[in-house]
Amino acid sequence: MTDAEFRFVDTETTAANLPYGALIDALEAGFSQGCVLPVRHHHYIEKTGEPNATLLLMPAWSKPDDASQFLGVKLVTIVPGNTARGLSGLTSTYMLYSAETGQQLALMDGNVITSRRTVATSALAARFLARKDARTLLVIGAGRVASLIPEAYLAVRPIEKVLVWDISTESADRLVRSLNERNIASELATDLEHAVDASDIISAATLATSPIIKGTWIRKGTHVDLIGGFTPKMREADDAALALARAFVDTKEALHEAGDLVQPIESGLVAEGHVLGTLSDLASGRVNGRITSDEITYFKAVGSGLADLVAARMVYEQVCVKWQ
Ligand SMILES: NC(=O)c1ccc[n+]([C@@H]2O[C@H](COP(=O)([O-])OP(=O)(O)OC[C@H]3O[C@@H](n4cnc5c(N)ncnc54)[C@H](O)[C@@H]3O)[C@@H](O)[C@H]2O)c1
Repeated sequence: MTDAEFRFVDTETTAANLPYGALIDALEAGFSQGCVLPVRHHHYIEKTGEPNATLLLMPAWSKPDDASQFLGVKLVTIVPGNTARGLSGLTSTYMLYSAETGQQLALMDGNVITSRRTVATSALAARFLARKDARTLLVIGAGRVASLIPEAYLAVRPIEKVLVWDISTESADRLVRSLNERNIASELATDLEHAVDASDIISAATLATSPIIKGTWIRKGTHVDLIGGFTPKMREADDAALALARAFVDTKEALHEAGDLVQPIESGLVAEGHVLGTLSDLASGRVNGRITSDEITYFKAVGSGLADLVAARMVYEQVCVKWQ
């Protein structure tokens, strides 16, 4: 046995080796199979003259009896003070190892892994939860993650029209122009209530702290996908949206981390059992996804180290193994 070569995979190569169709299929297999997923670590970093920063460590590794043995850690720094510096507040790096030998295999751009695996995870959920004839997609938000939502959904549903709404009309307009340049037919949504009512799928990736989507606006048969809120204080949809829907999460951590679930559960509006299952339950067939064309479905994700590991392994096997 020789030492594994340690590779650095740059941003462009990481992105080019995560095409959505293949990534969604790999995530389906990964969520069905599972992996070892310790609770993520949060470390708070004191700062002077600006909000404190956070270091987040997200480890995951293959189960002992899995045929391929990988171990990965995503390292994420969150520096809110970067907004004032004109820099992105979030930076992440992915480190992949052999789980068999512990040897380092590759260092990758964690930002690309995060954004692509996030929208691919939502598209995978939609494979189980959105109507097969869903043609109109409303994207709420126009940032790093939201801008990738249409391409991922196009891999699973026959989307013909994308509507975009953001708190900043200028950002939404910029995203509409960029989608149209990539031949994804898109329009600016100026009236959010009307856009929600006109859509088969609603996917939100914002930093909102109070509900933007109202349950009373959502028509029958719609699938609602909430990507943004990751703390108990953040909300993207109101209580009615959850109460009306058959609800699912990416992992059980969402029940304790996401305000869209924590708040209605704490207030007693719905019990934890209102959430019918996780993406692992859906992917392994333990729980049924959409049952009727009329029901409203709801998917809340907070992100999973499993999805990071699946994506990093995919990049490694396509890029690094070929180099050897
Ligand atoms: N679930 C996951 O796995 C996962 C993964 C990555 C990011 N996220 C979350 O997705 C969200 C978006 O991340 P990003 O990297 O695209 O951020 P970003 O800063 O690039 O974009 C944020 C978008 O939200 C909009 N926005 C800000 N405040 C708003 C408000 N009050 N109401 C409506 N829109 C508002 C902004 O205009 C912007 O378009 C964040 O909350 C992030 O933590 C989730």
